[in-house]
Amino acid sequence: MTNVTPPGEALAFPTGFTWGAATAAYQIEGAHDADGKGASIWDTFSHVSGNVERGENGDVACDHYHRYRDDVATMADLGLNAYRFSVSWPRVIPGGTGASNQAGLDFYSRLVDALLAQHIRPFITLYHWDLPQAMEDAGGWGARDTAAAFGEYAARMGRTLGDRVKDWITLNEPLAATTAGYIFGMHAPGKRDPQLAFQVSHHLNLAHGHAVRALRSTVKNSHVGITEVSMPVYPASDSEADQMAARRYDGVVNRWYWDPPLRGSYPVDVLDRLGPLAPNIADGDLALVSPPIDFLGHNSYSRTVVRNDPDSMLMGAAPVPQDDKPKTEMGWEVYPEHLYDALTRITRDYDAPDIYITENGAAYVDDVKDGAVHDPQRIDYLRTHLTAAHRAIQDGARLRGYFCWSFLDNFEWSFGYSKRFGIVYVDYPTQKRIVKASGRFFSEVARRNALA
Ligand code: FCB
Repeated sequence: MTNVTPPGEALAFPTGFTWGAATAAYQIEGAHDADGKGASIWDTFSHVSGNVERGENGDVACDHYHRYRDDVATMADLGLNAYRFSVSWPRVIPGGTGASNQAGLDFYSRLVDALLAQHIRPFITLYHWDLPQAMEDAGGWGARDTAAAFGEYAARMGRTLGDRVKDWITLNEPLAATTAGYIFGMHAPGKRDPQLAFQVSHHLNLAHGHAVRALRSTVKNSHVGITEVSMPVYPASDSEADQMAARRYDGVVNRWYWDPPLRGSYPVDVLDRLGPLAPNIADGDLALVSPPIDFLGHNSYSRTVVRNDPDSMLMGAAPVPQDDKPKTEMGWEVYPEHLYDALTRITRDYDAPDIYITENGAAYVDDVKDGAVHDPQRIDYLRTHLTAAHRAIQDGARLRGYFCWSFLDNFEWSFGYSKRFGIVYVDYPTQKRIVKASGRFFSEVARRNALA
């Protein structure tokens, strides 16, 4: 790729690079039962005692549903040229299938118009984990029909917004939806059933395929992708046993999710190892899950180091805590190199797709002092990760944009409001927003299209 400046000078990003911030519906919107919205599995899950720290939930969250105009104005002030948000499926189709909720569709339509008025390009994620509870009651992602219903929902969104929105992401992080929701039970719907989990992962892939086809037929000049999380895996030593453990672990956390949409196959080594836990895959499914897409969305926060451990249920590989390494508030190791490694690896192994970093960022404790939030650690995290991304571009990764996670502090799933990821601080009792120092930093990068 051309026009990236030589080392030593400011790191310029390619002309036309997309600079945005990302959010998700349940984490920011609030208005959980407003104007005809149906319940989602997260509404249900967060209201069960013990599921979320301090008993918190997304009923109000950042009240973005009512404050979106001010929030969009802040994005414009920061000079962002894109915004990634998700649509709450039960807000627009309360029962998951059947009648639409016009008020819900109108909300997203107004949001899109507000963004376009500020020349901010909307990137819409159709599924960021808030399945309509009505669909869950009918079998949820364990039922193959849910994938077809998702395709119909995608078509409805395409018909409603496709005249103005070209950039669509079908699913956010099938890995997290599957493992946190169906193996470890720490996300909605709170199941602990590995057999079901692998079937769910296949149905999510089918849902992706249906949605791509639905968007192609309803949106002119559509630009469609899927967001996968990457968990770069490193062996704890160069022993052959640890290297093979890293390969196995990589199979179940990365290749299992990346291969179906990008290659139309499941990794054979993982299928073999899963044995009876492997999902039912019907004839023709592999073609259904892999229609051509325009880009890969890439979420990335940290890395995992593993060692061989035959007793570990995780493919005979055990994560090795990196005790002496710097960590964010999530306990995730700060290891910027992982981003370079992941981007160049995807480029190498998956035929150099266009990539957008659809999430990257860090939770730290933030204090408001004299009306301002100084967050040097978050600035450092962004700077070092952007530097790694820039180097990956120089080495051939077709990286087209970067969305930091997150625009606002928000409801961090089972951690509730205890973890702040925003470049904009939210004072929850008053809903006042304060742009953090990291927000100013990111704004400068976006405006200059370069890291000084
Ligand atoms: C990602 C999720 C996002 C947020 C960040 C911290 O896995 O997609 O909603 O929770 O982690």
